This record gives sequence, C-alpha cells and structure tokens, in this order.
Amino acid sequence: MLQKENILIVDDDINILELLQRHLHSMNYHTYKAVSVKEAVAILRDSEIDLLITDLKMPEVDGFELIQFASEHYPNMPKLVVTGYPSVQDALSAIKSGAVDYLVKPFTKEELKQSVLKSLSTATKRKISSATSRQGTQSESKKYNEIIGESEGIKNVIQIIDRVKDNKATIFISGESGTGKELVARSIHYNGKFSRAPFISVNCGGIPENLLESELFGYVKGAFTGANENRDGFFQAADGGTIFLDEIGNASLAVQSRLLRVLQEKEVMKVGDRKTEKIDVRVIAATNSNLKEMIAKETFREDLFYRLTVVEINVPPLRDRKEDIPLLADKFLFKYGNEYKDRYVTIDPEAQVLLQRYDWPGNIRELENVIQRAVIMCDRTIGVEDLPETLKYQIDFPKEELVPLKEMEKKYIEKVLAATGNNQTKAAEILNIDRKTLRSKIG
Ligand SMILES: Nc1ncnc2c1ncn2[C@@H]1O[C@H](COP(=O)(O)OP(=O)(O)OP(=O)(O)O)[C@@H](O)[C@H]1O
Ligand SMILES: [Mg+2]
Repeated sequence: MLQKENILIVDDDINILELLQRHLHSMNYHTYKAVSVKEAVAILRDSEIDLLITDLKMPEVDGFELIQFASEHYPNMPKLVVTGYPSVQDALSAIKSGAVDYLVKPFTKEELKQSVLKSLSTATKRKISSATSRQGTQSESKKYNEIIGESEGIKNVIQIIDRVKDNKATIFISGESGTGKELVARSIHYNGKFSRAPFISVNCGGIPENLLESELFGYVKGAFTGANENRDGFFQAADGGTIFLDEIGNASLAVQSRLLRVLQEKEVMKVGDRKTEKIDVRVIAATNSNLKEMIAKETFREDLFYRLTVVEINVPPLRDRKEDIPLLADKFLFKYGNEYKDRYVTIDPEAQVLLQRYDWPGNIRELENVIQRAVIMCDRTIGVEDLPETLKYQIDFPKEELVPLKEMEKKYIEKVLAATGNNQTKAAEILNIDRKTLRSKIG
C-alpha cells in the first residue's frame, strides 16, 4: 500500500545508471533513467518525479544546466548530484545552483540510501510549508499531465476532475477495464488540496469476502478468533484523505450496508465494536460491472448506489477516442524505449495504421502492453511484424451497410496485404490460398 517515490536518474555512463537503478529498486523506489539531459527534460515534463539524481559531466548539455532548469521549473523537487572525486568542487557549485546534496563516486549502497532519504525528507518539509502558504498556483497545463489525451471524452473527464478535486463529494467512476479509472482517482486526489493526506486504494474484489469488512473498518480485540488486538481499517488509515474502493461491485451485501452507513453518517464502527468513530474521508468508488443490472438482481443496494454516485465520471473506451491513440502510443514508446533500449523507439507508419484501426477491447492497458512488447521485440523502429496477430487481421465490418461477399473478400485481402507489407507469399500463406489465386483475386 506504500506509495513508492519516482526517482529520475541521469548519467551518460550506462553502468552507473544500472547500478543506481539496481540499488534504488532494492530500496523499493521506482526509477526513470535518462542518458542525456534532453531525455531527462522530456521525462520531467511527462511524469511526476519526486527526486532527480544527476551526474554533472555529460556530453552536449551538462548536469549544471539540468539542475538549473529543474530549479526553475520544479522548485519543490529535490536534486541530488552524483559526481567523481575530482569534481567535488563542481558539486559544491551545483549545490549553489539548486542541488540539495551530493554523493561522491564510488559510493556504497548505504551512502546512496542515506542521501536519498535526506533529499526526499527536505522535499516533504517543503511541500508542507508551501501547501500551507499558498494554494492552487500550479498552472493548468502542468496539472493532470499524467492523463494523456486531447479527445472531447478526456477533456470532459479532466473538467470534472478539476471541479471535484478540492471537495469531499463522493465520486463514482465507471468505465471498461483498462480505461484509466484508477488513474482518474489518483489524479483527483493528488491534484486536490487534500493531496498531502493518504490515498488508500482498496481492491474490493481482491480481499476475501469474510475479511473485507474488518479490513475496511478495523476490528476490536475479541471480535472474532484471532482478533488479539484493536486494529484500524483502511477507512481510519485514509482519514483526512481519499479511500478508493475499486471493483465496488464485488462488495458483499453486508459490507454494502456498512458502507451506506459510513456515507450517511460519516462515521465508522469497527467490527465487534459498539461505538462509532467520526471520520473525514473522501470516497471514490469504481467498477467495470453494470451496477444497474446488479440492482435489478438485488445483488447491489440501490440506496448505496445513489449515495455513491454523487458525482459520476464515465471514462470512455479507447475506441471512442481514437484520436488519443498516437499520443498514448508516444508516451509508452518513450517510457519503454527508455526502460529497455535506453533510447527513443519510433513506430513506422504502417504499424501506426494498425494501432489506429484496432478497436482495443482492453483499452489503454492493452495498448500499453502491445507497445511494451513491441519495444522489446523491435530494433529501433516498431514495424508491423512486431505487433500481435490480433491487430493485423482485425476486419472492420461495415457498421450499417451490408456488402456482397466478393467485396468483403477483396477488402480483407487488401488488409492482409497491407499487414504483410505487400508480401504476396506471406499473404497467400495466411489466406491459405496459392499465390496464383491471390493474384487473380486482386488483379
Ligand atoms: N489517459 C491516460 N493517459 C496515460 N495513461 C493512461 C491513461 N489512461 C490509462 N492509462 C494507463 O493505463 C493503465 C490502465 O489504467 P488503470 O489501471 O487506471 O485502468 P482501470 O480503468 O482502473 O482498469 P481496470 O478496470 O482493469 O482496473 C495504467 O498504466 C494507466 O496509467
Ligand atoms: Mg483499476
């Protein structure tokens, strides 16, 4: 449940990058790597980075400029400099230009750990003081930069987020699997004014039904066998912040009636307890199941449904906002190019066409997986051959107009040809016809 910090490491020496990454991963941090200042700037722009660790001496643009750039644009993000012994003097100048601390190479894992902890703690302090002194000075474009998309559908979602982020109204997020429901929930929390308080995500489908109640609300000593002490639940842990109830459709009727009480009375009662405790938590619930249907079948309480849906956000499926595909693809190319290839991987136009045409039943998560796999498979550029078969042979059946078989056949053959890069041998093989027949059909 702990929120891992994102650390961006910048060094032109791949060995140092790997070493830092290994150490930081073993300390449970999430890392982004960049081999140049240019790449680092792009990552800073696209991701929420909690700490920047950079080398000073790098070809083209050096680490000083990066520190300066980061100090101007991300004043609250701590910066840690890693440097070789002869340039300790430089490290001191780096500190003047905005770095928090420096670490001399070679360093031990323990030294790294101490520096990271120290740097991150200064950030927390600063965050607290800046949050209490001024609110809402972030520019609009910087907010929600983790949600990619320019479609009407996404703009609409962002508008709602903007409206609700600073209040505690209960929010209900619906949408197909992989559309970004959890991302939306996190954006609401982390862009709002309670962002310093906890965001607790609970997968109601992932906790065994008999435990969900005590996990959510806590229990008192002696409530059931094994309850040897009083324990807080997720609701108490989220006090002051947000609890995200994912897959709410999986909550049992017993849990549902307790949730209803929490929402109505703003108080929780531990399992086995007689008294209630006041809590101050924003509830965000999400599901990809059809609650209306469940209500009809009496497996979901209608009164709870109306309590949960104070604000409704529907995250549209990717096939209804295809104009976002190139933007999203770009983000994932960057992310995985960096992770697996240490460079930006591109995608050729034919492969791009396939991404654009496909209907993405698994939505953004599926797109991300496809690109991740393709980045691993490809050399520098993703081609049609790096994409899974399902994308290559999707047929667009005309939605209204029904066409003669011959026409459909011709269309399909054209598709297979396009997918194989006009390789007739390959196309014939896939179509299970010989090349002569193929030629006569397209001729
Ligand atoms: N608009 C977006 N911009 C960038 N990344 C996105 C966007 N929407 C979703 N993602 C990414 O896609 C992945 C799936 O999103 P998320 O887990 O939020 O989906 P979900 O709706 O909760 O899915 P499920 O119903 O399967 O739990 C995540 O890695 C998320 O960061
Ligand atoms: Mg989810």
